Order: sequence, then C-alpha cells, then structure tokens
Amino acid sequence: MNNDAETVFVLNMWRRSLSASYRCFGCRSVGPKGVWSSHAVRTCSSPVLPAGRITALEALDFWRRRFEERGVIEPDQSSQHIVAHLLGAKTIENLERERLTEFLSQETAEQVWKLCTRRLSRMPVQYVIEEWDFRDLTLKMRPPVFIPRPETEELVELVLTDLLMKLGTGVGADTPHTCLEVGCGSGAISLSLLKSLPQLKAVALDQSQDAVDLTTENALRLKLQDRLQVHHLDIMKEDMASLEPEILRFEDHAALDGGEDGLRVIKQILVLAPQILSDQGRVYMEVDPRHPPLIRRWVEVNVGDLQYVETRHDITGRPRFCILQKAKAKRDHKLDLD
Ligand SMILES: C[S@@+](CC[C@H](N)C(=O)[O-])C[C@H]1O[C@@H](n2cnc3c(N)ncnc32)[C@H](O)[C@@H]1O
Repeated sequence: MNNDAETVFVLNMWRRSLSASYRCFGCRSVGPKGVWSSHAVRTCSSPVLPAGRITALEALDFWRRRFEERGVIEPDQSSQHIVAHLLGAKTIENLERERLTEFLSQETAEQVWKLCTRRLSRMPVQYVIEEWDFRDLTLKMRPPVFIPRPETEELVELVLTDLLMKLGTGVGADTPHTCLEVGCGSGAISLSLLKSLPQLKAVALDQSQDAVDLTTENALRLKLQDRLQVHHLDIMKEDMASLEPEILRFEDHAALDGGEDGLRVIKQILVLAPQILSDQGRVYMEVDPRHPPLIRRWVEVNVGDLQYVETRHDITGRPRFCILQKAKAKRDHKLDLD
C-alpha cells in the first residue's frame, strides 16, 4: 500500500439487508439472495410478447401491472428505467412524447420483454440494465458486486469537502493526496473522488475478484485508470505482526460486539490505519447507524495513535459516517533541546 504525503482511508462497510419481503407466485428461487431486492434468478412463467405492435407507453403500462401483480417493488420505476434505457435515455422524462407513442421496433420490444422478465425474477434493476449513476458518473454494474447506495454519495461529499478545505488553506496545497479505499465494490467512491480532484491518486482494494475486475473496468471506461491502482486483497489477511501487544494478546479479534463481520473488518482497518496514514491523515467510514458509539469507545481504548474526530448524520438524520484522524507525531523534547 502506498504511503504518500497525505493519505485518506475511505470505506463503506455498511451493508444493509434490503431484500424486501417478497412473494413469488409459482416461482422457484434458484440463486443467492442479493441486495436492494434479491438478485436471485427465478424460473417464473414470463409474460409473452403480445402479437402485433406495441408502443413504449403500452409496454410501460403492461410491465408496471405485471410487476405489481407479482409483488416486485418499485413497479413504476422498474419499467421506466428499463424502457428508458433501451430507448437510449436515463429517464422516461428525458424522452420526447413522440418516442413514447410511436411503435417499438420488433427488436426493441423483444429487449423490453427480456429485461423486464429479468426484473420479474427480482434481479435489481441496476443489474438488469447493467449500469447505474453515482453522483456524476455512470458506472457499469453486474452481479454479485455491491450496487452503490445514494447514501454513499453523502460520504463522498463529506470527504471532498474536507479535502477541498484542506487544499484551500494554502497549507500543503501542492501536496499529493492519496486515498485508500477498502472494499471498493464497483469503484464508485474512488472513481468519484478521482473525477472531482485531479490532484488525487487512489488505491482501491477488495477481497472479491469480481469487484476488482469491475472497478478496473469502470476506471478504464471513465479514463481514470492512470491515477488508480486496484488490488485484490483481503484486509483481514494484512500482516498484523507489528501491532501493539496489548491489542494482539488481549483483544478479541473476532468482533467489537460479538462477531458481526462489518465490525470485524472495521476494527482491522482502524488498527492498520495509523501504520499507513501520514500525520493527520483521516479515516472516513460509512457504517451501520448502531456502530459509531461502539467504534468511538473501541478506538479510545485500543488505538492510541488514532483520534475519533466526529460522527456525521446522513440526510435522513441517522448517525452513519465516522471520521477519525491520525494524531500528529509528538516531537522529541531531547532533540528539540539539542
Ligand atoms: C458494502 S460494500 C461497499 C462497496 C463500495 N465501496 C460502495 O460503496 O459501493 C463492501 C465491499 O467490501 C468488500 N470487503 C468486505 N470485506 C473485505 C475485506 N476483508 N477485505 C477487502 N474487502 C472487503 C466487499 O467485497 C464489498 O465489495
């Protein structure tokens, strides 16, 4: 890992279980549960494309009803995203009225049926259309890589505001900043930061090869690959030999509060952070809203070189973002006197 003049750690370890309670009428689940809605692949009796020609508006109405009948969440948005995508637009509102009232070509109609049938199997719409917007970026999406959540855009805003304030002080304005993202998924956070800060470099890592591949692909598509290194690495397997004996011998590494994976990884990162960060380098984390007080307490007791700076709330008022900072190295008095 890079140890540059200014290093920032960013991670999103908040993994909501969003699989809405769903019903499947006569469907058989044959895949793993996913996020947002399940990305399980189901064998469903799929509606057949009606004979004769169909307009975009008719297709939207047809699929909204099918989704509703089958209990697919967000039936309106789902059909709109798919049809708009196939007509080359981000949203239905971006399309001229005539595009919606003219007949779809046979090929487009078949595509609408194919993609909507996938949605009917409860595949998240982001995987169905294979892309999703995050801030000002359009990212490629594919299962099983985590789909970036709107809340994570707030984390990026927070890091950007902090970094820009730092640059604006004149202190270290020319300092090359390096950001390390742990658990990059599709690359949303790193790529968004790189896009907004031309002087930033980033290292992104993930334990999942699928995530590493997707981040690399997204970096290439956005032409940001020159400032991003992507590594396939499990942070839990990072060398811990140099840790303080107090932590190694007496702390239970399994968990902060009994073994939840998110906290296990967070704890590992907080222990590694002072070894990687430069003085006053920061850690920004998006976590489960129950975790900030646990993290604060644990850091205060166990990681001497790291200060818990503050907890920030998300737009819905939930405590979601933790900010920590590496303490400035103490100056040696003896050396001062010499
Ligand atoms: C909640 S997702 C966040 C993905 C992305 N940062 C985002 O906000 O869209 C967490 C990511 O961390 C990765 N991850 C989990 N444990 C890890 C570990 N021990 N080492 C490296 N990556 C890990 C997962 O594979 C997953 O891609």
